Amino acid sequence: MFSNKDIARYYDLSEVHYKLFWNLEESKSLHYGYWDAGTKNFHQALLNINKVLSEKAKISDKDLVLDAGCGIGGSSLWLARERSCRVNGISLSEKQVHKAIALSEKEGLAAKAKFFQKDFTDTGFAAKTFDVVWAIESVCHAKDKSDFLKEAYRILKPGGRLILADFFKRENLAGKDAEMIRDWAHGWAVPDFATIEEFEIIAKSAGFKNLVIEDISQAIEPSAKKLYRAYFIGIIGAKLYSLFRRNASTFGKRNVETAYLQYKTLKRGAWRYYVVYGEKQP
Ligand SMILES: C[S@@+](CC[C@H](N)C(=O)[O-])C[C@H]1O[C@@H](n2cnc3c(N)ncnc32)[C@H](O)[C@@H]1O
Repeated sequence: MFSNKDIARYYDLSEVHYKLFWNLEESKSLHYGYWDAGTKNFHQALLNINKVLSEKAKISDKDLVLDAGCGIGGSSLWLARERSCRVNGISLSEKQVHKAIALSEKEGLAAKAKFFQKDFTDTGFAAKTFDVVWAIESVCHAKDKSDFLKEAYRILKPGGRLILADFFKRENLAGKDAEMIRDWAHGWAVPDFATIEEFEIIAKSAGFKNLVIEDISQAIEPSAKKLYRAYFIGIIGAKLYSLFRRNASTFGKRNVETAYLQYKTLKRGAWRYYVVYGEKQP
């Protein structure tokens, strides 16, 4: 339904929204972050998810990490700097990859953090290359989530770790909930969200063991609310823009609506946000 080109185009077109509403230039993040009792502001929350996930996956300077769906490289650069590990970041968007490379050079991290335009369901990396596969809010874009899980398993070394954070819809959605979730997903070039129940089954059948699944919806809710508030500003801008430019991109217009839908559906209990950890057999 969405080709790799569509997904890359979605990110290229919505970069302006992330710059305006998501502190992109400073945080280099395209995710919801993690709010805990010590989090003082949005910027801290965006960086905090890197700390949380890297602790869960016990990432150290000995690791080679694949950042699967790396955006403009925010997490990859954080890992290279704060955990002194080596990272390969991959994205479908050539523009994001160029930006990530430029940032790695600017921050003196180019020897540790490398970036490539690749598909995480078919990376071309040799089997048993990585110690960790890391994915924040990217796997939702895969039509068949098991294509990502099988490829992650193949390229992990024996004993390697998978760590991801993502959106999962509630089981058996119907009526208005199902409709709103579908509209939100499609506005973000996501074919459909998985349920955590089906994701656990396919992760196990891809070979992952010692799965730990944690619901951290509470820790992302302040960001979901911030995005919802941005909707009311964005809607005015979008209306003016489409008044003057009848051919304004569908993704551009829809991205504003998704800011509303993601929060409304969270409050309706139609989705939750999970961290998933798993290991490849030693
Ligand atoms: C919401 S952004 C998250 C970016 C980054 N993980 C972060 O937290 O800032 C999703 C990213 O996943 C990437 N992506 C989606 N599908 C992909 C695929 N099949 N292969 C590689 N990257 C993909 C997009 O290009 C985009 O960079």
